[in-house]
Amino acid sequence: MKSVLPENAWKDFPQLAQKIQGRSYSYLDSAATTLKPWPVLEAVSKFLTSDVANVHRGAYRLSDNVTESFESVRTQVSQWIGSQDPRQIIFTKGATESINLVSNSFRNLEYKKGDAIVVTQLEHHSNFVPWQQLCQEKGIDFLVVPVNDQGVLDLDKYEEFLKNYRVKLVSVTLMSNVLGVITDIQTIIQLAHKHGALVLGDAAQLISFQAIDVKKWDIDFLVFSGHKLFAPYGLGVLYGKFDVLNQISCYQFGGSMVLKVTQSQTQFQELPYRLEAGTPNIEGVIGLGAAISYLNKFDRSQMIEHEMGLHNLLIQELNLISEIKIFAHHLWQANDNQKGPVVSFILKGVHSSDVAQILNQENVFVRSGVHCAQPLAERLDLIKCGGSIRASLSVYSQKKDIEKLISAIYKAKEILL
Ligand SMILES: Cc1ncc(COP(=O)(O)O)c(C=O)c1O
Repeated sequence: MKSVLPENAWKDFPQLAQKIQGRSYSYLDSAATTLKPWPVLEAVSKFLTSDVANVHRGAYRLSDNVTESFESVRTQVSQWIGSQDPRQIIFTKGATESINLVSNSFRNLEYKKGDAIVVTQLEHHSNFVPWQQLCQEKGIDFLVVPVNDQGVLDLDKYEEFLKNYRVKLVSVTLMSNVLGVITDIQTIIQLAHKHGALVLGDAAQLISFQAIDVKKWDIDFLVFSGHKLFAPYGLGVLYGKFDVLNQISCYQFGGSMVLKVTQSQTQFQELPYRLEAGTPNIEGVIGLGAAISYLNKFDRSQMIEHEMGLHNLLIQELNLISEIKIFAHHLWQANDNQKGPVVSFILKGVHSSDVAQILNQENVFVRSGVHCAQPLAERLDLIKCGGSIRASLSVYSQKKDIEKLISAIYKAKEILL
């Protein structure tokens, strides 16, 4: 039964009761990492205090229990993103490692002139640099789909790329970590498949906001990090279609991923273990399971309504300050399929780190800079002002966080302008 109201979620996050220099604070950097709720902390702590044993090796009860819990989270993740088979879920260290796992495998392919990889101007460096480096190494084209001033992808240009090159893979974010823009992934996939290209979706941001349905979308790969989904650090997920994943070469070699080793050769395990060498982040996986169970207590549409309600309030208030420029702001009243709870803005004529510093003094924690998306910052002409100020919200965000942010911005304006 969906019973927990998002308005009360903040009570589940103990960090929000902490004070810094004797004052409470507003955490508005959830796009960088989310805070952790009690159920996750309790599950991790229980594992580390009373259930510790290694997975997949046990000849004893404790290890069997841990293996069972670990594998049940694989099933939970699989269901959470709409995949059909838990073997399609590979645990990695994070979204970055998941992308590198796939790009590393693409190194083994044979390429010809006219082959290309497509990314977009919205990408986080972790979904940009691996493909750029691969293309440079292989001497193939690295094509970047441009965005308009509002951060919306130019799908005509995208289609042109697909028509004019032999595109091997399209690797695209599902939601921009800078602008909150949600990409039209279903159209992107349909067009890519029409032209024989695979699609990797970077769900690092979307995973905690909208429902994901890999089966319905027919996406080839999907990646995300646990720490942006209320779970611990050092854990990520790579989903892949079964036949596509089966063609991915082993990324690392070691224990757990082998069936038989002799001096002259090694026989490898089947999926998913073939791609999970070494002891995994067991407490991370246990924590991720608890995070998904926690999120399942909310009604998704109520969560979106809560987060976008605060987002819209923030935009409304920022719009009243004439010296503020908001990016991708025309999307704010669009339906929730186009925008997530991330707002980037600048105080015109002021370096963004100066603004962030004053917000910091007011115990309002936002991020400033290029947010690991320098090509986008260049496109939006943000380099000279030190990038943008980014406020990002989550289920535990509250109206008072927006009020504190706005009053801190007025203070910054008074000091800096
Ligand atoms: C859109 C996007 N992709 C990828 C990443 C990389 O995630 P991680 O550093 O957890 O591997 C991030 C992190 O901010 C992100 O926002």
